[in-house]
Amino acid sequence: MGMNSDFTPFDQIVLDPELTANVPKDQRFYTGMDCYIHCIESLQGTFLNEFSKSYGEKALQLCREVFVENNNWNNECDDKLMMASYAGGMSIAYSQVGVAHAVSYGLSYLLGTKHGIGNCIVFNHLEEYYPEGVKEFKKMVEKNGITIPKNICACLTDEQFNKMIDVSLSMKPLWENALGKDWEQIMNRDRLRRLYEKL
Ligand SMILES: [Fe+2]
Repeated sequence: MGMNSDFTPFDQIVLDPELTANVPKDQRFYTGMDCYIHCIESLQGTFLNEFSKSYGEKALQLCREVFVENNNWNNECDDKLMMASYAGGMSIAYSQVGVAHAVSYGLSYLLGTKHGIGNCIVFNHLEEYYPEGVKEFKKMVEKNGITIPKNICACLTDEQFNKMIDVSLSMKPLWENALGKDWEQIMNRDRLRRLYEKL
């Protein structure tokens, strides 16, 4: 359970940027992008409220400072990304994530794809849903010299696609946040299958 769950009791949260100081560049990017994607999905979602908006905007600003405006990674960037991560997590406490998360959970379930990289693989193909966010994401991928895996679903069977679709469509609050109350009219099994095939 996340720190934003009502069922996660804790007295303190330890925030220490030195714990991530020597994380490999790619991993740092994938995890940082999980935060960025949280912000985009929360801020563009139908569940948005002032609590989520305040945290989401702050996290988004910090993500941009380290991945768009910055040229040399330093300790200050680790500090900023740490706080972005905290605020990005808080942003969805009273809203929800969206399409990228709903689709990437299917990948994680079937293929064991890790959360951050899975979100990147999916978000890379979501221009239709988050045009501005995806444009900026691609800019960050290029600027930071990151490779996003492609064709990870190339050899899957119908049964495997169906499993991922089942997992993804079971995330009802995520779809509702992303596409509104009538999300089932917009996202169906065929459309989702075509999206998975692109990954
Ligand atoms: Fe996430």
